[in-house]
Order: sequence, then C-alpha cells, then structure tokens
Amino acid sequence: MSTLYPCKVQPQVQDFTPYTAGLSIEEIKAEYNLSRVIKLASNENPLGCSPYVQKVIARSASFGFRYPRPGNPELCQALAEFYRLSPDNFVVSNGSDEAIDLLLRVMARPGKDHVLVFDPCFSMYRLQARLCGVDIRSVPLNPDFSFPFAELLRIVDQDTALVFVTNPDNPSGYAAPREKLLEMAARLPESCLLVVDEAYLEFADDPEAVSPLSELPECTNLVILRTFSKLYGLAGLRLGYGIMPPWLRDYLMRVKPPFSVNLLAERAGIAALRDGYFAGQTRRTVLAGKSYLKRELKAMGCTVFLSQANFLLFKPPVPAKSLYERLLKQGIIVRPLGSYGLDDYLRVSIGNTHENKAFIRAMQDILSQPSV
Ligand SMILES: Cc1ncc(COP(=O)(O)O)c(C=O)c1O
Repeated sequence: MSTLYPCKVQPQVQDFTPYTAGLSIEEIKAEYNLSRVIKLASNENPLGCSPYVQKVIARSASFGFRYPRPGNPELCQALAEFYRLSPDNFVVSNGSDEAIDLLLRVMARPGKDHVLVFDPCFSMYRLQARLCGVDIRSVPLNPDFSFPFAELLRIVDQDTALVFVTNPDNPSGYAAPREKLLEMAARLPESCLLVVDEAYLEFADDPEAVSPLSELPECTNLVILRTFSKLYGLAGLRLGYGIMPPWLRDYLMRVKPPFSVNLLAERAGIAALRDGYFAGQTRRTVLAGKSYLKRELKAMGCTVFLSQANFLLFKPPVPAKSLYERLLKQGIIVRPLGSYGLDDYLRVSIGNTHENKAFIRAMQDILSQPSV
C-alpha cells in the first residue's frame, strides 16, 4: 500500500498497527440498532464528570480563544500543593500517553537503546517505542499475573533506557507492593529510569502500600505517571502528568509542545483536585461495585482475578469471544483482550449500580442459554 505513494514514509510507520481502543457507544447503537448501550470497556469514571468541574469548564469556555501558558504552571503549582512536592517535579501532559512518548523521546536512543516491559502490558509503551525506533524487550508475567521482577532485572543491561511497570496493572488489576518497586529502582543501572504507571493507583485498597511516591525525592531514576482520566472522570479532556526528578522535568519541558494541554483541561484539572468529595464518591462506588461484580461473576462460574484497579479481569466458563459478541447484542460493551494475547479472558470496567446490574443480568441471561 505504502509503495503507491511517492513520498518517503518511515519504515516503522509503514507497517504500524495502531492502538485498539474500546468500542464507542455510538458505534454499537448503530450496528445493533439499539437505543441504549452501556460501555464498560475503557475504565472510565462510573459517575461521569464532577458537577463542580463541569461548572468550571462552562465558566472557562469564553477563554477558549486564549493560548494556555506554556507548561501549565498553575496546574503544576496545584499538583505540587496537592502532593507537597515542588512544581519542578511535575510535567503535565495530553493524557499520560503524551508523557510516555516524551519519556521515550528524551531518554532512549533510536536503534541503540531498548525499553523493558512485562508481557502482556498496556499497549501504548510498545506502540510509542516502535514509533521512536526503539527496541522493546519483554518478560512474561507470572501465570497469576504477578510481576517476575527478578527475571526482568536479569535482562537489564547498559542499553536499557526505561523500564515500564503498570501498578496496579492493566489488564489484570494486580498491584505489587511499593518495596518491590523501590528495590527495582535501586537495582537498575543509574542511567535507566523506572517508570511506574499509576493510572489506577487511586482505586487500590491501600494506595500508599503500592506507590513508591513518598520516596521519589530521594530516587534519581524514578518516574510516576498519573492521569485525570480515571478517578477524576476527565478522559475526554486528555490530561495526565508525570512526577519526576527536576533534572528530568527540565529535559521533558524542552521538547514538549508548549500548548499540548489546553486551557479548559488545565482549569478542569485544578478544579478536580479541589473536589475531594467527588473523588471519594468515585472510589467508594468503584470499591462497592467491584465486590458486587466479583461475587456475581464467581457465582456464574467465572474465574475472577484480584484487582486493585477500577476493572476486573475474568475468564468466563464459555468462549470469551462469543460471550463478548452476545453481550454487544444486548447493548453491553466489555473489553476483549485479543490485543493483549489473552483470547480466553474479558475485562469489565466497574460501572455504577445500574450499569453493573445490567451487565450481570445480561451475563446470567446469556450463560443460561445452552448455545453459547
Ligand atoms: C495503564 C494505563 N496507562 C495510561 C493510560 C492512559 O491514560 P490517559 O488517558 O491519561 O492517556 C491508560 C488508559 O487506559 C492505562 O490503562
């Protein structure tokens, strides 16, 4: 296909397979002629977006003609106050996806360095590395989806630029204790960064027990990624951030497009940090919904994995693919995991009470039919 065009297209782009996103509600409504669809596929917030944040966004709409300040210093300041760190520890980004890309471009030499991940893992690490011309090496997760740290350390060498660990992990929900991550950071060569992607951290049973954040000021090679997409319900505004040592922030800020975080997203982020009530309600909704879904799925014969995130990984007692398709026909979108190499499993986001019940009713209905 690419040979039809006269221009040069980079080799790593020519056969690039893009990110597989969860299906949208509109697509499924149109395809199955449904008036109501429930999406439990992208780990979005079950309560939507905070009413307070919505008001701030509406009030800010008239500033849409202004450029934001490069580097979004007000949001960095708000984050610094929230975490009792310095603004020099924060890079805000267009979703944590942008932070992943910036780290790769700053730290990894194309064609020479490589990055390490567990397999399976969140696919953006691979995709961005490939686009940057950086090799990716992986170590399979343990069968229970826990992290084989020793195996990963065994393949680290002087050309390992970055190690990505998602904690709690996607798609399993497994979370390693913070001590393991700190030990890992300490055992990496000085030139290698440990990037802990904590997109789901706020849903862990005890977030402080799994996050190495409190040690970040003492660690020169630790980066933590967080996002406003999950707990704060701002996935559509694209807002994430990296917490890192000031020397690294300095490099990222030099290469980051100055206005990649827009003015409405910045104001929404500041407001979201102030709305502790909404964040608390979200967390309570997710924890209650998770135990309900876990109990009901197990009662239907599914193998359900322990999750410290806002989703559950499960293996149904029938082929996952046909169950997924039957759910779609009933207007319920969950996440098939073929792109993670987990064909026999499905991942379901924790919804609100109404959504969770509708999902369980659909599951019971499908599994009670002999022909699945
Ligand atoms: C592990 C992980 N990291 C990062 C992200 C992306 O977050 P953002 O919406 O901030 O780009 C996701 C999104 O699902 C994720 O699962």
